[in-house]
Amino acid sequence: MSASQERKLPDAMQEETSRVPLTVRGARGVEQARLGRSAGKLARRWYIEDWQSWRPRLFEWYFTKTRVGSSTRAEEEAVVWSFVDPQIRPEHHVLDVGSGTGIYTARLVTKCSRVFAVEASPAMRSYLTRRMDREGEGLRSKVEVLRGRLPEPLQVHGSFDGVVAIGVLNYVENLDAALKALAAPLSVGGWAVFSVPPDTDAGRKYLRQERLLRRRVYVRSDSEVVAAANGAGLTVQGSRTAADVTRVVGAVFVGG
Ligand SMILES: C[S@@+](CC[C@H](N)C(=O)[O-])C[C@H]1O[C@@H](n2cnc3c(N)ncnc32)[C@H](O)[C@@H]1O
Repeated sequence: MSASQERKLPDAMQEETSRVPLTVRGARGVEQARLGRSAGKLARRWYIEDWQSWRPRLFEWYFTKTRVGSSTRAEEEAVVWSFVDPQIRPEHHVLDVGSGTGIYTARLVTKCSRVFAVEASPAMRSYLTRRMDREGEGLRSKVEVLRGRLPEPLQVHGSFDGVVAIGVLNYVENLDAALKALAAPLSVGGWAVFSVPPDTDAGRKYLRQERLLRRRVYVRSDSEVVAAANGAGLTVQGSRTAADVTRVVGAVFVGG
């Protein structure tokens, strides 16, 4: 509560509000707080866990078979690869966090030596495992699918040359901790390519659309992203927005 919302009640009103401390919010403030609490309760009921709402087949269908899905995806991929391609080397070990159905995983393995796909959703993990079986040895021998949920530290061993996290930070409230978790396994000089929804009209429209699907999205300003990245030991090298709502950021781990 800000100082301006606080005020002393006149003596005459104090009896009526005997259960309220002497320094309280004004009546409007109390009402707002009550509304806020109800909205908070409603929100807790409405939103489902970030990783529980995903239907892998529907996800794939939308991005491969619908016109809007496939053009959004094509635009996003072009921006993502424009950051990844100059960095990735055939000997690299790369993390794909929030790997989903493995759209990026499947292409990353063609460009590097090993990919660790980290994913919170059991449905997405089993879809990716089945995809690896379907698509054969090339994918299976180079990919490991792991359980992990940002912003918790990733349960991986050794150091990595790069990390990709596309479309996952959208659903993580604590960006500082999430970027620290992404950067921690990187060796110094390692690269990171991640996306966040921007705090723009388009970003907020997307947030409202996702709300209808019961997913809670967090939009970020550029300065928030840069500060969180710096706090994680990442130096931002550039960013570009794809399809209005995916701000893709390229960064390098300088340690810290
Ligand atoms: C929009 S999809 C993106 C999938 C993939 N990166 C792509 O671009 O096709 C987001 C994915 O992040 C996963 N996810 C959501 N919250 C997560 C979290 N806190 N930690 C790890 N994965 C998460 C979801 O289960 C889902 O598979």
